[in-house]
Amino acid sequence: MTVGMSGFTGAGYPKAVPQALAAQIQSAHDRGEAFGIRVLTGASTAPELDGVLARTGGIDFRLPYQSDPELRARINHGQIEYMDIHLGHVAQYAWSGFFGDIDVAVIEVAGVLPDGRLIPSTSVGNNKTWLDLAAKVVLEVNRDQPAGLEGMHDIYYGTALPPHRKPIPLLAPGDRIGEPYLRVDPDKVVAVVETGGHDRLTPFAAPDDTSARIAGHLVEFFRHEIARGRMPGNLLPLQSGVGNIANAVLLGLREGGFEQLSAYTEVIQDGMLDLIRSGTITTASATALSLSPDGVADFVEHIDTYRRRIVLRPQEISNHAELVRRLGCIALNGMVEADLYGNVNSTHVAGSRIINGIGGSGDFARNGFLSCFLTPSTAKHGQVSALVPMVSHVDHTEHDVAVVVTEQGLADLRGLSPKQRARVIIERCAHPDFKPQLEDYFQRACRHSYGLQTPHLLPEALSWHQRFLDTGSMRA
Ligand code: COA
Repeated sequence: MTVGMSGFTGAGYPKAVPQALAAQIQSAHDRGEAFGIRVLTGASTAPELDGVLARTGGIDFRLPYQSDPELRARINHGQIEYMDIHLGHVAQYAWSGFFGDIDVAVIEVAGVLPDGRLIPSTSVGNNKTWLDLAAKVVLEVNRDQPAGLEGMHDIYYGTALPPHRKPIPLLAPGDRIGEPYLRVDPDKVVAVVETGGHDRLTPFAAPDDTSARIAGHLVEFFRHEIARGRMPGNLLPLQSGVGNIANAVLLGLREGGFEQLSAYTEVIQDGMLDLIRSGTITTASATALSLSPDGVADFVEHIDTYRRRIVLRPQEISNHAELVRRLGCIALNGMVEADLYGNVNSTHVAGSRIINGIGGSGDFARNGFLSCFLTPSTAKHGQVSALVPMVSHVDHTEHDVAVVVTEQGLADLRGLSPKQRARVIIERCAHPDFKPQLEDYFQRACRHSYGLQTPHLLPEALSWHQRFLDTGSMRA
């Protein structure tokens, strides 16, 4: 069966049914019967869903994003087929039938109205799509999700497949263009399960020196862009990726004195909640609330303020190319590595081992007004350079990457040719330990490359990664 489940970045996932299902799968396997399902969600979930199902060997196929260690290990051992897909494309793929029939939807909600409409939970993700397409629906009603969530969501029912598409009437991040509830055909609902329990999210690390320096470079760059008249004083709607660096950047914006900001993003993390409460961000649109336990407590305490300033939407709207382009988002995403020419790898170590997935980074990088990628200049205790001659896997091409930032500095690649980009990336972003190695590669490539538009020495281009696999270090 193909099962569409709720859940986005560890928020709003079903907490009981996947565990019960895992027990059934385990019994079937104990009896020697094959039993595996195809699991589709909004994005990553938690040990109670991905972890427990992966451990039983109950997932045959998974999409569109994951971060659970157990699931990741099985994907990388070749036991689970994983489709890594732009989060903004999932709904139209589902509607087009590329995932086959959706047999069952398992959706966590915060409540059910007497007329059958559903109060969405802490994430919306692909829930509308699964509820519309699935033959049968199982609802988990979680009594522990904040009651004050009601009214925070905006579910738009106007999307369609070509050639029936119409403009989506959203002109500002806070616009409400839909309705606060999800619809479901009551005849499809085969079970309602009452559950409790909170989303399982870990606290963020306090920003370290590296992420603070990355944030500092970005803040300085934004000031420069405002001074040049390329951006308004309150910037443009921010999209902020997941993780500690994104959190630190948001903190840096507040300390940098920015005001009246807005966000059109996927996930609201603790850092953004702080900015909303302090008034630095006046409006935030997302598809999920991904909060630490402290963040949840703060959210519940100030829920009336947050309800006025936060809108939660289906991910096909939060990540929609048309809207990201219209609003002119500033895309801020982490990465694994970038190459001399600005191609970016967000997903794979050494070209073959996946970490999480592309998530929404491509939706925003390609369509945003300013596409920034952030990373420490080294990984693996300084043994690996995040700037390499050639990326070992490509998620974002040189054409979609405007700015690369490390703790060393910021490379503004706009308006530059490939060779000009290489010089700026080496000069501004590379760690001093790897700078001479990169310069040496680039200079020799400029002398001996087959073509000089994008100089490369093919036998050497991926040798840094092979050296890392052989010795644990990219150092020459
Ligand atoms: N080579 C080898 N390993 C690398 C590496 C590199 N260049 N860069 C990072 N890693 C490893 C780290 O060592 C770490 O592994 P470990 O835990 O086994 O040590 C892992 O990758 C994650 O790195 P970390 O430094 O913790 O990164 P992060 O939390 O800042 O996440 C990404 C970085 C790229 C994994 C993350 O941003 C991501 O998944 N991006 C894709 C999705 C996305 O952009 N979503 C945003 C839209 S919401």
